[in-house]
Amino acid sequence: KTLDQGKVTWESPSNIALVKYWGKKKDQIPENPSISFTLNNCKTITTLTYAKKEDTSDFDFEVYLDGEKKNDFKPKIETFFKRVEAYLPFLKDYKFVVETRNTFPHSSGIASSASGMSAMALCLMSIEKQLTSEELSEKYFNQKASFLARLGSGSACRSIEGDLIVWGANEVVEGSSDLFGVKYPYVVHENFKEYQDTILLVDKGEKQVSSTVGHNLMFNHPYAQNRFAQAHDNLGKLKPVLASGDLDAFISLIESEALTLHAMMMTSMPYFILMKPNTLEIINKIWAFRKETGLHIGFTLDAGANVHVLYPKQESEEILDFIKNELVVYCQNEQYICDQIGFGAKQV
Ligand code: PMV
Repeated sequence: KTLDQGKVTWESPSNIALVKYWGKKKDQIPENPSISFTLNNCKTITTLTYAKKEDTSDFDFEVYLDGEKKNDFKPKIETFFKRVEAYLPFLKDYKFVVETRNTFPHSSGIASSASGMSAMALCLMSIEKQLTSEELSEKYFNQKASFLARLGSGSACRSIEGDLIVWGANEVVEGSSDLFGVKYPYVVHENFKEYQDTILLVDKGEKQVSSTVGHNLMFNHPYAQNRFAQAHDNLGKLKPVLASGDLDAFISLIESEALTLHAMMMTSMPYFILMKPNTLEIINKIWAFRKETGLHIGFTLDAGANVHVLYPKQESEEILDFIKNELVVYCQNEQYICDQIGFGAKQV
């Protein structure tokens, strides 16, 4: 089939890792498996307009964020196009206009690469679907979208579907792959249904360490091999926890994963401390409140100072009160985002 022009829109969510991906090999192959909750409210909405062009010697595209032309986004997309060209042979045949926006404030310190790259991959898959004469199965569509998203940003491959996604070949989860994310295939206890993630925006500044630099810190890292083995172990430990709904064990595991991620950064060369004083204030408050009340509040961290506060839906009333009364003062401009586990991207 041929297509002269058209337009396609996808909205795709962010995700938060429980077992962290940190360290990669060539071609965006992860050094260790990871598992994440797909989010619901933090998403990117991307419209891709395409028009057939005469000159097929190079890529041709423009990028707009919130209606404003963004030339500084071009190198990232150019790199992405180069990486996926072999799998999407039509890329040089069209001129593209990418119009994108996020539902969360930009420069909030929340990475938009997972939601942004997955939305982009899905838009391109929709074009591929229109160009092929055979029906593409949903499984093929999602798997290839995840594969392409991975080439944009590793963690983006975990944003196509929900609610729990595993990426990285491992012995725990059947069907897992280094090349794309797969839905966690086992039954999960209802304690994790509508699990809450309140994101406390401690530091909204530019990322101190880009994730590319971050992953590279794992080359020649003295603890790298142990860390990669630990991620496999933790995924194995998480499986019975997800099945039984053991929230105490869940919290221990995810908090340890978050602190280990930061420990890797503190013990690399060069070394970084990505937490801020307020990150630690929040963590200490969470621990004290948990001890005092027995409620199941826990945290995880990305490669930055913001804190993701995770808790079960059934305890959300008391825990959200605590967050608003005690934790929000540690956020920059008192900003926080209420989110919860979600089910993946949607075509608009
Ligand atoms: O997808 P990247 O290359 O931006 O890496 C993300 C890494 C972490 O967010 C720190 C962990 C993870 O598994 O998402």
